[in-house]
Amino acid sequence: MTEEQLSSLLNDMTTKEKINQMIQLYGSFYEKGTSVVTGPISDTIGAMKLSEDEISQIGSALSVVGAKETKEMQRHYLEKQPHKIPLLFMADIINGYRTIIPIPIAQACSFNPEMVQNSAAMVAKESAVAGVHVTFSPVADLARDPRWGRVMETAGEDPYLNCVMTEAVVKGYQGENLLGKGSIAACIKHFAGYGAPVAGREYNNVELSERTLNEFYLPGYAAGIKAGAALVMTSFNTLDHIPSTGNQKLMKEILRQKMKFEGVLISDWNAIGEMIAFDFAEDEKEAAELAMKAGVDIDMMSSCYASSLEELIKEGIISNEELDESVIRILRLKNDLGLFENPYKDADEELEEKIILCDDHRILAKEAAKETFVLLKNEGILPLDENNSETIYIGPYVNATNTNGNWAIFGQEEDTVTLRKGILNVTGNPSIPFYEGCSMLNPDEYILDLNRRKSIGLSAEENARLIETAVSAAKTAKTVVLALGEHHGHSGEAGSRAIPELPDIQKKLFNSIYEVNQNIIVVLYSGRPLIITEIAKKAKAILQVWFPGTEGGNAVAEVLYGRTAPSGKLCMSFPYAVGQIPVFYNEHGVGRPQSGEHEERFYSCYLDIPNEPLYPFGYGLSYTEFSYGEGRLDKQSMKKGEKITASITVENIGQYEGKEIVQLYIHDCKASTVRPVKELKGFQKIALNPGEKRVVSFAITEEMLRFYTKNMLYASEPGEFEVMLGTDSTVTRKMIFRLN
Ligand code: GLC
Repeated sequence: MTEEQLSSLLNDMTTKEKINQMIQLYGSFYEKGTSVVTGPISDTIGAMKLSEDEISQIGSALSVVGAKETKEMQRHYLEKQPHKIPLLFMADIINGYRTIIPIPIAQACSFNPEMVQNSAAMVAKESAVAGVHVTFSPVADLARDPRWGRVMETAGEDPYLNCVMTEAVVKGYQGENLLGKGSIAACIKHFAGYGAPVAGREYNNVELSERTLNEFYLPGYAAGIKAGAALVMTSFNTLDHIPSTGNQKLMKEILRQKMKFEGVLISDWNAIGEMIAFDFAEDEKEAAELAMKAGVDIDMMSSCYASSLEELIKEGIISNEELDESVIRILRLKNDLGLFENPYKDADEELEEKIILCDDHRILAKEAAKETFVLLKNEGILPLDENNSETIYIGPYVNATNTNGNWAIFGQEEDTVTLRKGILNVTGNPSIPFYEGCSMLNPDEYILDLNRRKSIGLSAEENARLIETAVSAAKTAKTVVLALGEHHGHSGEAGSRAIPELPDIQKKLFNSIYEVNQNIIVVLYSGRPLIITEIAKKAKAILQVWFPGTEGGNAVAEVLYGRTAPSGKLCMSFPYAVGQIPVFYNEHGVGRPQSGEHEERFYSCYLDIPNEPLYPFGYGLSYTEFSYGEGRLDKQSMKKGEKITASITVENIGQYEGKEIVQLYIHDCKASTVRPVKELKGFQKIALNPGEKRVVSFAITEEMLRFYTKNMLYASEPGEFEVMLGTDSTVTRKMIFRLN
């Protein structure tokens, strides 16, 4: 439809019809609908004051998927729709629809935006044939606190990497345009600052200075919007003690005016209704007014708009113009997706059969997973020799199929390649022994995951037996691979943990094995950086694999046996102890920096642990070794509009081919505000064969030096800057240039 036709349609709609377009319910509200429930079914929602007729007229459905299901619901819906305005189908496709790819924090550790974009494009194809129009992804929340369970959905602690990854995912989902076959609309979330809840506790308030918000937390959302994301979702938290969903400054000044976002703003699940619980809205009517004044176009899973918007309009509290502004954005989104011409878009039962979980998608998922693993430690014990039959495998993740992460709500565990299967595929050796060792959860502990599936730890007696059997086998083995990790339900939404460590039963297994065999390789599954300091002292090798998805077993096996060298680097620091949290590389300078050169008391440090994390941002080992030459700058000063080229020679001086992520960091030596000790401003992932060397260059521009000055102007300031090129954020060799 043309813009004029959309305007004419809008003018022809009744107020009630317009309001119905602004409501989103999950599938179970429909007589034929079924859907995963991804939020609390509160009393308000349970008693939703909507008639069957109104439910049949709402504008979008949440978590309804499947070509057959969506086509049937659309057909049924359009029969009753007076203006034949199609229903939008939205769902949380976070890391895959049926072919599950690694969780987002893992993808970010690949430092490979091309791979991330291609993976997102594959995910979009599977989602589109299943009738999905919009995915609530990517999460652009910056994350510095691993106590918060949703770090698994983010790109970690660095704003630049967050921008690169958010842009890649949006482009992967949306392709050239939303009309394209296999394209789905992206929704940037959660706006804004949701990743910084006080004490790492889910849904808690956020305390950020305006400068920190602008310099660290907003760039990721802005990058997604600049990449063309069609929707933005409000966040559950407050900013400056104002709930985002009713925060006019955040949504009107920053999102709409400063970031120039013109797409659809959707609330998070019942976030409008929850302004009452915040004691920020008296009732549904005031909550609806506050959300409308903030420009929230779609009310997801609350009854505020349905129960109160018509009255607010009659009373003139909300104008018809404000109503139309929201509805036209929703109609434009449906039009951009081509739904007026084809309400079923790409939904196609035959294609579903053909492409979902096809070999090409599985191969893509496996190759992607291998790029996300981070080798944290290796005392010459990896890679394993495929012919060495003296390696045994122990641990709750040896046979686990729940390696998709907590948001893979449409993935099926039976599709998963387990570690055991992967080892068999690589070695072809059916006699390699595998032992469960202990349960994933502590004895009798239970967890409900996002699909509300309940997992329970085995009893203490059963665990004792499992450990005894494993220890007995470990006594005679040459090498033990211990597949350990947190349960997938321990991260993701509502997954905050005050003690983000392995379960005690798994620590017990590790220590019991260590007593009889010190050749231990730990393969670690988690949705967050765990506190693994004690294990790191004892294990000979640690491979962090996050939640690698459907092809995880094959990917882990191929890396363990050296078919592919690990190449990931940490996008988020691993704390030395929970007391360090939040610990991140791009911290600001202090007045009494720890020098470490002399015995002194009065400097910024802890009395009981180091300041540094166990493993820092940007860190990750390979099976080979890379040597860095001296960095060079092609000139020592520049003016605005000019650039400086920083270069360094990197050589593979080891025995294996490998990929290295060369990182560029910059430090502003003096400014009108205290600046971070260093900031990532670029990276390049290069593949080098043994003996091969390459000059890696980066262009440094004045734009890269901009920050929020003391007057909150986004600008650079003349002065000296230090440039560091290296293998991770601990790089210290500096070169200096001057911005005039
Ligand atoms: C959840 C999440 C959000 C998700 C939405 C719909 O509460 O916060 O990320 O997209 O509800 O499931």
